[in-house]
Amino acid sequence: MLWGLRKALGTAIETETSQPAWGGTKSRRAVRAAVLGATGYVGRELLTLLARHPFARVTHLMSSGRDRKTPFPIERAHPSLRGRFSAPCVPLGLEGLVPSEVDLAFLATPHETAHEVVPVLLDRGLRVVDLSAAFRLRDAGAYPRWYGFEHRAAAALAEAVYGLPELHADAIRKARLVANPGCYATSIVLALAPLLGAGWADVPAGIIADSKSGASGAGRAPSEKLHFTEVNENLRAYALFNHRHVPEMLQALELGEKAFTFTPHLLPITRGILSTIYVRLAEPRTLGQVVALFRDFYASAPLVRVYGVGSLPEIQAVAQTPYVDLGFALDEANRRLILVSALDNLGKGAAGQAVQNLNLMFGFPQEAALL
Ligand SMILES: NC(=O)c1ccc[n+]([C@@H]2O[C@H](COP(=O)([O-])OP(=O)(O)OC[C@H]3O[C@@H](n4cnc5c(N)ncnc54)[C@H](OP(=O)(O)O)[C@@H]3O)[C@@H](O)[C@H]2O)c1
Repeated sequence: MLWGLRKALGTAIETETSQPAWGGTKSRRAVRAAVLGATGYVGRELLTLLARHPFARVTHLMSSGRDRKTPFPIERAHPSLRGRFSAPCVPLGLEGLVPSEVDLAFLATPHETAHEVVPVLLDRGLRVVDLSAAFRLRDAGAYPRWYGFEHRAAAALAEAVYGLPELHADAIRKARLVANPGCYATSIVLALAPLLGAGWADVPAGIIADSKSGASGAGRAPSEKLHFTEVNENLRAYALFNHRHVPEMLQALELGEKAFTFTPHLLPITRGILSTIYVRLAEPRTLGQVVALFRDFYASAPLVRVYGVGSLPEIQAVAQTPYVDLGFALDEANRRLILVSALDNLGKGAAGQAVQNLNLMFGFPQEAALL
C-alpha cells in the first residue's frame, strides 16, 4: 500500500540534487501560455503570477463568453491586472490554441469544460495543466458519483499525472497533461504523505482531517450560501462524508474510505485553508522525531515550510504566498499526533501549484515567479 509514497520519498530527495534543465539562459524562447477561465478567481491568480514569470508569457485569455460575447480587456474582470496584458480576453474558442501559437494551456474552468476541451488540446500537441478535477481521479467510474458526469476521455485520463510536485516531480517533468490537485487535497496530502510513507501512522485507528477554507475556494459565481451575509461572522461545516476531494485524497494517500474522515468548513475570510489532522501513531515517537521526518522528506521542496517544536502554521502566514506550512503537536504518552497544515487555496492550492508544475514541465526552477 505504501509503495507509492515510499517511492515519492525518494523523488522528493532526488529533486534537490538534479540540475535545473533551463540552465539560466535568457536566449531560450518564453513558454507561451493560454489561460482558459481567465475571468475566475484562479484565472486571476494565474495571470498575476504569469505576468511576472521570467520565462513565460500569456498569449491567450479566455472566458465562457456567456456574459461578454466580444473581446474585452481583462481589467474589466480583474481591475488589479490593469495594464498587464495586451491580449484581450475572448470567449472560449479552440481555433488559436495550436502548437504554432501556444505551448501550454491552463484550464481554470468548470470540470465539465475541461473534460471536453483537454483531449482536443492534447491531440493537437499542446501540453496542459488542468486545475479542475476532470483528470484527477484514475477511475473514470468514480466521476458520476463524485462529479455528476460520465467520464468519456479515457485516453487523456490514463496519461494524466497528478500534479503534486513534492511527490511526483519526475512524472510531471515529462507529462503532457498535469491534473493540478484540489486545494483541500493539497493541504492534507502533503501533511500526511511523509507519515504514511514511513509507516508511522496507525491507519486502522482512523485519520480525521478537519479543514477550514476561505470563501474564494468556491469560485466567483454567486450563490445564496456564499452571499456576504451568509458567510460573514459565521462558520459552517458542509459536504460531510461526501466532499469531492475525498476520492482524490484516498487515491493519493492509498487509503481506504473507512480509515479517513474529512470535514470541510467555510470560514468568513477570502483566502486560505487551515487543516487540523488527527492521527494515532503506530509506535511511540518524540515530537523531535516527527519534525525530523518531515524536514528530511521535504528537504528539497522549496514551497513546503516545516515548523519546529513550539510554533504552528496559521492562515496569515500563508495567504498570498505559494507555501504550504506544516506543524505538529504530539501527546507522546498516548501516541496522539495533531498535524496542522496551512496554505492559500489560490496559491499552493491552485495557481501557485499550477505555475510550479509549468516550471517543472519546462525545466525551470520550481519556484520561478513564485518566490
Ligand atoms: N477557487 C479555488 O480555490 C480553487 C482551487 C483549486 C482548484 N479550483 C478549480 O479551478 C477551476 C476554476 O475555479 P475558480 O474558483 O476560478 O472558478 P470561477 O471563479 O467560478 O471561474 C470560472 C472560470 O471558468 C469560466 N467558465 C465557466 N463556465 C465555462 C464554460 N462553460 N466554458 C468556458 N469557460 C467557462 C468562467 O468564465 P465566465 O467569467 O465567463 O463565467 C471563469 O473564467 C475549477 O475547476 C475549480 O474547481 C479552484
